[in-house]
Amino acid sequence: MTEKLIIHGGKALRGEVEIAGAKNSVLKLMAAALLTGDSIELRNVPHLSDVAVMTQVLKHLGCDVDQQDDDRLYIQARNITSYEAPYDLVRKMRASFDVLGSLLGRFGEARVALPGGCSIGKRSVDLHVKGLMALGAEVEINHGYVEAKATRLVGTEILLDTPSVGATENIMLAATMAEGSTILSNAAQEPEIMDLANFLNAMGADISGAGTNELIINGVKPGSLHGTTYSVMPDRIEAATYLMAAAGTRGDVTVNNVLPVHLSSLTHKLMEMGADIEMPTPNSLRLRCDKRLQAQNIVTQPYPGFPTDLQAPFMTLLCIADGVSIVKETIYENRFKQVGELKRMGADISVERDVAVITGVEHLSGAEVNAHDLRAGAAMVIAGVQAIGMTEVYDLQHLDRGYEHLVEKMQSIGADIQRVPDTSGRVILTEDAM
Ligand code: UD1
Repeated sequence: MTEKLIIHGGKALRGEVEIAGAKNSVLKLMAAALLTGDSIELRNVPHLSDVAVMTQVLKHLGCDVDQQDDDRLYIQARNITSYEAPYDLVRKMRASFDVLGSLLGRFGEARVALPGGCSIGKRSVDLHVKGLMALGAEVEINHGYVEAKATRLVGTEILLDTPSVGATENIMLAATMAEGSTILSNAAQEPEIMDLANFLNAMGADISGAGTNELIINGVKPGSLHGTTYSVMPDRIEAATYLMAAAGTRGDVTVNNVLPVHLSSLTHKLMEMGADIEMPTPNSLRLRCDKRLQAQNIVTQPYPGFPTDLQAPFMTLLCIADGVSIVKETIYENRFKQVGELKRMGADISVERDVAVITGVEHLSGAEVNAHDLRAGAAMVIAGVQAIGMTEVYDLQHLDRGYEHLVEKMQSIGADIQRVPDTSGRVILTEDAM
């Protein structure tokens, strides 16, 4: 039975929310665990459907994976029985493509399904492939699979055309097992890259420069990486979602277990719009807002710029801000899927290619809406809590990919939100995911 959310909006949210470990980091750490036969213990692991999919991928390869009811997850890649990640798993989650670099690095062989088209843009993998070829791998694309082989990988200089997060990760994973040094320029600088580098270093790798645009990866000897215990970084996108929900409802919410510096591009914008933000402790952020937000312009950019993953949720605030706002999406070609839904809630938005112009209205009105993808789904929840009246959100499988205990956390800060069976008999169209 599918489910839907019912939200009665218009109440100011107040209270504290504990933020989980980062989805976009833990999936890559799980792929990196393939680089050793020793046992890995990850902590601060969120319970998400994406983690379950990555667990399936690793089990398919022959790993032992055990997620506990608390925040621990154990992985051991001692008896790998397959080097292939099949399409029915990879299509569910693009991040599973990261096993390519690990399998190639440790075993010299990998066959991983192409992630395929995606609802938010082209999202090709050409930079992953070029990077692995530069390290000496032979790569062919046959029957929808990337097939990579290498008798030896050798470190080299690689310049990415664009700072792709996934390509940076795949190259980092393979280069860790290469002979000699790899210098990766125009690398992604996202905090999740730093988390992966820290984790690999804890396993015995030698990576420096993470967090800058140049990574130096000194390869290590085969078999020299070892087990470790590592705590996943906090989920900056989840934290941002609750801060924005607070801002949109003129509330007062503190998010705990965060690294505030990861949220700077958002908090600066929110303060310019009129919200009050303080740091009660080094690991928490408190947002208070008691007046109508002012219009604001944003341009999505690679970190440390404004994250594309926050573009849709942030737009819900602009919908009710005072004045005209402009949003420019530069990372993906098709990431305005929330616009049609927000318009059904009374928003005034016009889109021309990669630019949306939003004229603020006094308030949104509850409506039936779809969560078209993960972050568009977060936008629907934020829109729902700030709207007048009842909002019903469908296609919750997207939200389950990235938000642990969403309903309970929202309820704990005063939202009137419930998850109930959807008896409408609607057909859910599953789309490939971020
Ligand atoms: C990751 C995040 C996703 C986020 C994105 C950008 C995970 C699981 N997902 O996705 O939430 O929105 O970073 O911050 O961590 N590109 C190419 N060729 C390539 C690779 C990418 O052209 O080989 C393009 C893509 O089409 C896209 C842009 O580069 O337009 C950014 O993609 P990338 O940084 O690779 O995003 P992901 O790693 O897929």
